[in-house]
Amino acid sequence: MLFTSLVLLTLLPAVFGQSWQQYLNGLVQALNTYGLTTLASASAALNSSSIGQQVAQSLSTGNWTLFAPSNQAFSSAPINLTSDPTSVLNLLSYHIVHGNFTEQTSPYPNITLGRTLLNDSSLVQLEGNKSQVLAWSNGSDGIFVLNNGTTVSVVNKTVYQNLQVLVIDSVLKIPQNLSDTLSNSTYDVTTLAGALSSINVPTNDSTTLLNVLNNASGITLFAPNNSAIATASCIGGLLPNTTALIALFGNHVINGTTVYSPAFTNGNNYTSASGEPFVFKTNSSGVYVSSAGSNWAHIMRSDVLTSNGVVHVIDSVLLDKKVNTSAANSTYQSATSVAASMTIETGPVGVAPTTSTGH
Ligand SMILES: *[C@@H]1O[C@H](CO)[C@@H](O)[C@H](O)[C@H]1NC(C)=O
Ligand SMILES: *[C@@H]1O[C@H](CO)[C@@H](O)[C@H](O)[C@H]1NC(C)=O
Ligand SMILES: *[C@@H]1O[C@H](CO)[C@@H](O)[C@H](O)[C@H]1NC(C)=O
Ligand SMILES: *[C@@H]1O[C@H](CO)[C@@H](O)[C@H](O)[C@H]1NC(C)=O
Ligand SMILES: *[C@@H]1O[C@H](CO)[C@@H](O)[C@H](O)[C@H]1NC(C)=O
Ligand SMILES: *[C@@H]1O[C@H](CO)[C@@H](O)[C@H](O)[C@H]1NC(C)=O
Ligand SMILES: *[C@@H]1O[C@H](CO)[C@@H](O)[C@H](O)[C@H]1NC(C)=O
Ligand SMILES: *[C@@H]1O[C@H](CO)[C@@H](O)[C@H](O)[C@H]1NC(C)=O
Ligand SMILES: *[C@@H]1O[C@H](CO)[C@@H](O)[C@H](O)[C@H]1NC(C)=O
Ligand SMILES: *[C@@H]1O[C@H](CO)[C@@H](O)[C@H](O)[C@H]1NC(C)=O
Ligand SMILES: *[C@@H]1O[C@H](CO)[C@@H](O)[C@H](O)[C@H]1NC(C)=O
Ligand SMILES: *[C@@H]1O[C@H](CO)[C@@H](O)[C@H](O)[C@H]1NC(C)=O
Repeated sequence: MLFTSLVLLTLLPAVFGQSWQQYLNGLVQALNTYGLTTLASASAALNSSSIGQQVAQSLSTGNWTLFAPSNQAFSSAPINLTSDPTSVLNLLSYHIVHGNFTEQTSPYPNITLGRTLLNDSSLVQLEGNKSQVLAWSNGSDGIFVLNNGTTVSVVNKTVYQNLQVLVIDSVLKIPQNLSDTLSNSTYDVTTLAGALSSINVPTNDSTTLLNVLNNASGITLFAPNNSAIATASCIGGLLPNTTALIALFGNHVINGTTVYSPAFTNGNNYTSASGEPFVFKTNSSGVYVSSAGSNWAHIMRSDVLTSNGVVHVIDSVLLDKKVNTSAANSTYQSATSVAASMTIETGPVGVAPTTSTGH
C-alpha cells in the first residue's frame, strides 16, 4: 500500500507534468544551492502575484535561458528588490529568454538576440505587443550581454531542468525610450537627437520628428553619428525645408518593424518610412546599409535597444530624399498585420525576414 503510493507519487509528475509550483520551488532551491540567493528570493516572489505565476508557468515548459545576476551584481545595483513587486517582476522577466542558446550564440561581431518575458506596456512598446529582446554575443572571453552601453559578462553556468542558467556580473537594465537613448552621449548620436527635435511635422506644429519616432510602436532607426551629421553638407542645404528633411530622415527609419542585425543580409528587403528600399552588404570590414543604392554607410554599432524598437549607429547620412508614399503606406500596413500574426520565437530573434518590400 505504502509502496504503491510512493510509486504513484513518483510517477505523477512524469505522467501529468509537474505543477508550476513544484517547478518554482525547485528553481528557488537550485538557485540557493548555487549561491544565487538574492535572485532566489526575487524568484520566490513570482509566487505572490498572478502575473508572476504566469511567468513561472511559462518557464515550466519549453526551453529557456536565465541570465542570473550574482549576489555581488545585485548588491552593486541601485535597486530595492523588496520595495516594489512590479519592478521586481519586470526586472526578473527581462532576464529570462525563450530558447536554449547553447549551440546558437553567434561569435562576435555577430549578435544573437532572444525574446524575453518582459512585456509590461509601460516599459515595452514593440509592434504586435511583442516582448522586449536581449542582445548578446560570444567574444574571446566568453559570452557577454550588450546592455545600456556597457557589456555584462557571463561568469558561470549551470542547468536547472529545462533552464540554462548563465550567471552574470551585473543586473541588466531595461531599455530606455528612444529619445533618452539618443540623448545619451555613449552612442555618439546626440546631434541627430537635436536635429530630430528641431523639425516640426507639418500636420502638428507642436510635434517634432523626435516625438513621432519616440511614440511609434516598433521602429528601426539608422542613426548617423555626430561626425556624420556634422560633415553632411546636404543637411545644411535642406534647412529650413521641413518636407525635404522629413523625407531624408524618413529614409533612415523602418516604420512598424523592429529589425535587428541578424537580418542585415543580402536579399532581405525593408522599406523606409519614406518608401525607399534599404539595401545591405557585408564584407570583411563589416556590415553596410544604403537607401535605394545611394551611398553606403558603415554600421558602427548595431542593436542599441530602446523601449519601442532598435537603433543602429552609422557613419554617414544616407543621401536619399526621394519619397514613395504608397510604398511607405503599404509597408506600414503589412508590417502591422505581420506583427499581429507573429508567433513568439523560441530561438534566435530576427534571423529570417519579418517583412518584405511593399508591393
Ligand atoms: C508558493 O506558495 C505555495 C502556497 O502558498 C507554497 O507552498 C510554496 O512553497 C511557495 N513557493 C515558493 C517558491 O515560494
Ligand atoms: C528544446 O530544444 C530542443 C533542442 O535544443 C528541441 O529538440 C526541443 O523541441 C525544444 N523543446 C521545446 C518545448 O521547444
Ligand atoms: C526596500 O523598501 C522597503 C519598503 O519600502 C524597505 O522596508 C526596505 O528597508 C528597503 N530596503 C533597502 C535595502 O533599501
Ligand atoms: C555574421 O553575419 C554576417 C552578416 O549577417 C554573415 O554574413 C556571417 O555569415 C555571420 N557569421 C557568422 C559566423 O555567423
Ligand atoms: C548613458 O549611458 C552610459 C552607459 O551606460 C551611462 O554611464 C550614463 O550614465 C548614461 N547617461 C544617461 C543620462 O542616462
Ligand atoms: C562556478 O560554479 C561552480 C559551482 O557552483 C563553482 O564551483 C565555481 O567556483 C564557480 N566559478 C566561478 C568563476 O564563479
Ligand atoms: C541545451 O542544449 C544543449 C545542446 O543541445 C544540451 O546539451 C542541453 O542539455 C540543453 N539544455 C537544456 C536546459 O535543455
Ligand atoms: C543606463 O545607465 C544609466 C547610468 O548608468 C542610467 O541613468 C540609465 O537609467 C540606464 N538605463 C536604463 C534603461 O536603466
Ligand atoms: C523642399 O523640398 C521638397 C522635396 O525635396 C521640394 O519638392 C520643394 O521644392 C522644396 N521647397 C523649397 C521651398 O525649396
Ligand atoms: C528582395 O528584392 C529583390 C529585388 O527586388 C528580390 O529579388 C528578392 O527576392 C527580394 N527578397 C525578399 C526576401 O523579398
Ligand atoms: C508610420 O506610419 C503611420 C501610419 O501611416 C504614421 O501615422 C506614422 O507617422 C509613421 N511614422 C513614421 C515614423 O514615419
Ligand atoms: C497614405 O496614407 C495616408 C494616411 O493613411 C493617406 O492620407 C494617403 O493618401 C495615403 N497615400 C497613398 C499614396 O496611399
